[in-house]
Amino acid sequence: MAEVERWFVDIGLEVRVDAVGSRVGRLAGERPEVVMSGSHVDSVSSGGAYDGALGVIMAGCAVGWLAATRGRPLRTLEVFANCEEESSRFACNFWGSRAMAGLIEPEEPEGLADGEGVSIADAMRICGLDPAGLADARRTDLAAYVEPHIEQGPVLEETGDLIGVVDRVVGVRGLRVSLTGVGGHAGTLAMAARRDALAGAAEIVLGVERLARGRGAPTVATVGQIEVRPGGFNQVSGLARLTIDFRHPEEEVLAELDGELRGLVASVAAARVLEVEVSQGTMQAAIRFDGRVCTAIEQACRDAGVAWRRMPSLAGHDAQVIGRLCPAAMLFVPSKGGVSHRPDEETQLPHIVSGIEVLARTLFRLAYQPLP
Ligand code: GLV
Ligand code: MN
Ligand code: MN
Repeated sequence: MAEVERWFVDIGLEVRVDAVGSRVGRLAGERPEVVMSGSHVDSVSSGGAYDGALGVIMAGCAVGWLAATRGRPLRTLEVFANCEEESSRFACNFWGSRAMAGLIEPEEPEGLADGEGVSIADAMRICGLDPAGLADARRTDLAAYVEPHIEQGPVLEETGDLIGVVDRVVGVRGLRVSLTGVGGHAGTLAMAARRDALAGAAEIVLGVERLARGRGAPTVATVGQIEVRPGGFNQVSGLARLTIDFRHPEEEVLAELDGELRGLVASVAAARVLEVEVSQGTMQAAIRFDGRVCTAIEQACRDAGVAWRRMPSLAGHDAQVIGRLCPAAMLFVPSKGGVSHRPDEETQLPHIVSGIEVLARTLFRLAYQPLP
């Protein structure tokens, strides 16, 4: 974040740290309402360098170029660098954008802890932030938000388009499941007497996959984390915790899936005589983006002479939270091989340059010109 701050200063922006630690670079306009662009700087563990960070860099390049060549805008321009979107340390995703939208629950700062038991509230204090003040991150001055991001899928590469104009994002939901059985000796505890929590988790993993495959695309469901106690090769597991992430563009389908997944967990637990607790994880509603912001991106693509297509996002993004506060949309650049959330994710430099040009032209329309 220190590097982000230095860079914002170098490109002529005033830097602010908001109440939850996001960095904001500001180019003051004649009017106070803000056109914002950016993304997140955190990453999944064992992730790549592009998911999130490239969006912040693209926004900084576009706004820095506008500052240098067009001077003071009509509407204020801001570059947003969200401190935490991915939930890689705390199960709190979209942290910076949820704070802006006033969507952080009061119990979250003290209630959510990392793997070492440090709460977000304590982590904030260590960074010099006051958890009691997080309501100050709320924004009521946003006129528009444009989030540039890597596609994270194969569509643009397959079609040969350079820009994805993203007009909607899927809903993302999560469940946290805890199964308690009886631990014991791997040699002496007879198979007939076992209440093995890990075996129950394994059955749930396969059931989740079967359920999503059975519904077909665009339904996806993933068990990405399992924690087993005590975890010895010669010990039967007394405890297993797992997460289920599931996504679909329609809220009604998400609600049905929620019921089916909870039913699956309950029936596996009952058949194996395991105690079970299910709690709600991520709950981000699907969103349709603002038609005017999508059109501004499309006009910018025409002006830049690049091929574009409208498309949905199958990954979650800050824009689906900020889009509840103000008109918003997203701009995708191609991902090599469609790969993401892996160290080898990549976007080629000429594609990044085209994306920055389209973003700069979009922000020029939104911040320098009277709105239609
Ligand atoms: C974020 O990368 C998400 O889609 O979960
Ligand atoms: Mn991601
Ligand atoms: Mn991302």
